[in-house]
Amino acid sequence: MSKTEIFQDIPLPAARDAQELWRWLYTEVRAAILDGRLKREARLPSTRSLARQYSVSRGTVVAAFEQLQAEGYTHTEVGSGTYVASGLPDRSFVARTAGGAAPNLPPSKATLSKRAQETLKHVKVLPASHSVGKAFRSYEPAIDLFPVDLWARISARVLRHAPRSLYGQGNTAGYQPLRRAIAEYIGGSRGVRCSPDQIIVTSGAQQALDLVGRLLLDPGDRVWMEDPGYPGAWFTLRATGARIVPVPVDRDGIIVETARKLAPQAKLAYVTPANQFPLGVTMSAERRMELLHWAVSAGAWIVEDEYDAEYRYSGRPVAALQSLDRSGSVIYIGTFTKMLFNALRLGFLVVPERLANSFEAARSFVDRHPPTLDQAVLAEFIAEGHFGHHVRSMRQVYSERLSVLEAAAQKHLAGLLELTPTAAGMRTVAWLKTRTSGEVAAHRAQMLGLELAALSVFTVKYSRKPALILGFAGCNPNELRRGVSVLAAALRTSARS
Ligand SMILES: Cc1ncc(COP(=O)(O)O)c(C=O)c1O
Repeated sequence: MSKTEIFQDIPLPAARDAQELWRWLYTEVRAAILDGRLKREARLPSTRSLARQYSVSRGTVVAAFEQLQAEGYTHTEVGSGTYVASGLPDRSFVARTAGGAAPNLPPSKATLSKRAQETLKHVKVLPASHSVGKAFRSYEPAIDLFPVDLWARISARVLRHAPRSLYGQGNTAGYQPLRRAIAEYIGGSRGVRCSPDQIIVTSGAQQALDLVGRLLLDPGDRVWMEDPGYPGAWFTLRATGARIVPVPVDRDGIIVETARKLAPQAKLAYVTPANQFPLGVTMSAERRMELLHWAVSAGAWIVEDEYDAEYRYSGRPVAALQSLDRSGSVIYIGTFTKMLFNALRLGFLVVPERLANSFEAARSFVDRHPPTLDQAVLAEFIAEGHFGHHVRSMRQVYSERLSVLEAAAQKHLAGLLELTPTAAGMRTVAWLKTRTSGEVAAHRAQMLGLELAALSVFTVKYSRKPALILGFAGCNPNELRRGVSVLAAALRTSARS
């Protein structure tokens, strides 16, 4: 194909703005070079003739040519013209061009690693929220009641007064005043025993789990996981190449005796003792001691995920498992995404002293450190007592919302669903009383615009009776009542079919 034919291939631009025009021409010529239509050392038409061909100004063509030359796609011989550079890589190794076909990469280069393929097979990416408080979304707190004005005032104050040093490289383990505020707060509210140096501020609980996996697990290591359990932990820990051992859960939490039979030498146990995800049971004192004894005898780690432990509606909050640990076997995870709002993406780890330096070092190669200014706002929010106040008032609100859900369910869902008595958390388990499977019921409800999941989604091996997981904390009373009516309609249709 001659050079002029190639340029006849390029359609006339839709854009007329000078900026867009030169960028359009630059992109088209670059694409022709990258996919081999313009061969190495081919001479390009003169700027004058191209300008005429496309009815654009010569300046537009010159700008495009200058950019191509600056990026090394062409070179100019004075008095002779512009040529495609000779040193460009082979066609098969160049990147995919805008709108062009994917180059033929060798198969080994074109595929993901086996571990990634295996991990991603089951991962469902959470959609971004386009609404607030939809029934029965379970992963968001009451965003409708978050004190945004107060948060904005503190943010403005922090930004106005922050020393310039806060705009520079931050502390890898987290902003020191935030680490202090967290240590003090969880010491009082959860009985967690730690110094600020044991706290690593993370991007939510998810990054805390990622760091745990990177630092403590080798491929082939066994990991006890509650079944049903939290998929975010399953996927992350499995991505390390560790072998997950599903362990059944009863009314006292993870059944340690069964786990010991299945994998006595496991390297790590992941648990949610305060409010088992998703069944909502609280791990009994006896089970806690059993688990700690096993960890000490097996030289294993326990990861305690306290994602919503402070929301307890009857009785006093149960102290963290970490508070009973004398051996330094427990790694504690907390998150502000459920206590404040999801988009904050701040959480933390409390690690035994002997691990603190390693976690800090690992953090430095993952993403250096969390955004310092956000941490500074959160530190003020906690230190001034707003965090404690917010948690207390949300506890009251969620308890009321739970009562609304229970009352509405009693009225409209009798014979269709039975709610588990719920003492904590942001969601409840609702057992299906019809002969419908959880998946079918969930699908019908989703088709009517509800957000919920079947319990089976969180189950790996130990299946249970069909049930749905209903979030209530993030939904206002009207939305909960509306949701219950819609759910009743969905369940009646699925029961008939
Ligand atoms: C058991 C459990 N852990 C942790 C989290 C929170 O994770 P993150 O802080 O990454 O949002 C959730 C959220 O749903 C959860 O259910």
